[in-house]
Amino acid sequence: MLCAEAVPLIDVEKRFGSPCYVYSRAAIEDQWHFYDRAFGSKSHLVCYSVKANGNLAILNLLARLGSGFDIVSVGELQRVITAGGDPSRVVFSGVGKRPDEIKIALDTGVKCLNVESRSELQLVNTIAQQAGKKAPVSIRINPDVDAKTHPHISTGLKESKFGIDYDDAERIYMEAADLANIEIVGVDCHIGSQIVQLKPYQDAVRRIMQLVHKLIDRGITIRHVDIGGGLGISYQSEQPPSPAEFVKSICSIVDDSSLEIIIEPGRSIVGNAGLLLAKVLYLKKNPDKNFAIIDAAMNDLIRPVLYDAWQEIIPVQQESKAEAGNYDVVGPVCESGDFLGLNRRLSIDEGDLLAILGAGAYAFCMSSNYNARPRVAEVLVENTEIHEIRRRESIEDLYRGESLLP
Ligand code: LLP
Repeated sequence: MLCAEAVPLIDVEKRFGSPCYVYSRAAIEDQWHFYDRAFGSKSHLVCYSVKANGNLAILNLLARLGSGFDIVSVGELQRVITAGGDPSRVVFSGVGKRPDEIKIALDTGVKCLNVESRSELQLVNTIAQQAGKKAPVSIRINPDVDAKTHPHISTGLKESKFGIDYDDAERIYMEAADLANIEIVGVDCHIGSQIVQLKPYQDAVRRIMQLVHKLIDRGITIRHVDIGGGLGISYQSEQPPSPAEFVKSICSIVDDSSLEIIIEPGRSIVGNAGLLLAKVLYLKKNPDKNFAIIDAAMNDLIRPVLYDAWQEIIPVQQESKAEAGNYDVVGPVCESGDFLGLNRRLSIDEGDLLAILGAGAYAFCMSSNYNARPRVAEVLVENTEIHEIRRRESIEDLYRGESLLP
């Protein structure tokens, strides 16, 4: 029987039903500590990227460890604060911050706004001036390196919408230095996600450090460099560097000991700490294909169809008498793209439970109510205990806020 920590998954299903996201507290905390400890005495801040999984309980356990947070909206800021996170450890990223979001971020006292365009820089200056403040700003630079990952999650190339062109960076920093209500605090970059090699990071950090030295020579004070997130995890056979290898390699390139290093990992903290528990509804054999139709669907986990992502699917009951077959594991949603895994060799029967692994990051948070399917429950296990950290939605939850015509 498959367990999460010391909890048999079958017990989770008995108490909370299926489908259900299941996370391990220890796995999340361990990953965060691996990053944090790897810096040793070097000044640093691990800012967990909230978009990967913003459940309040998960933010709360990270806040208790002293984590910082990387956010991309005021919604995420409010989650962090509600979960007990410290706004002065929050960095605010994103290409499209609204004026009201910038104002709230300044009023809340975030550590830094990662500014992504000249227009945004001007707007931040104006809003800070109206509020009688100086806005702490770092500019996101596009280092033009190929992160060698899926095109939808590669962000550091020249043609990407993110950041400011490397060749314009110095000029924009000089402009920022002249703005009365901007306080330059750092330099920022983020080159993509699910990156499984160190080389793209090393190239990016080298370019960023060249810029930092030029800025310092021009009399601009730089207190931190933010390397972003993006370190990959193993879904299938990928062998990404460990957080320690990643941190070591960055620290060896950031050659100015007065600089604080910020990183924004999301997936590598929570990704392999979670799974999606689902149940086989029907086994269906067509002439050319076998289907395992399960109770979870693309609305619950969209990564397989959106990014061609491979996520391991294993039976919860490991020894089955069922004959092995090759199955497309699909859900009840009315689309051919509704699959969780294709052509998987499984020994399963109707009624069996399956665990879809690597589902702690970009999984529940990207789920939707498509086909009027309530979003599923989330639980966090801690040794032998199970905490329900988000109850399953009801059908009524789905149309709350809607109204009939008068
Ligand atoms: N910082 C910034 C500015 C980001 O845009 C991201 C992710 C991160 C940090 C965290 O990256 P991580 O360490 O989690 O790779 N939905 C996609 C992933 C989108 C990532 C977007 N940005 C997926 O399911 O693969």
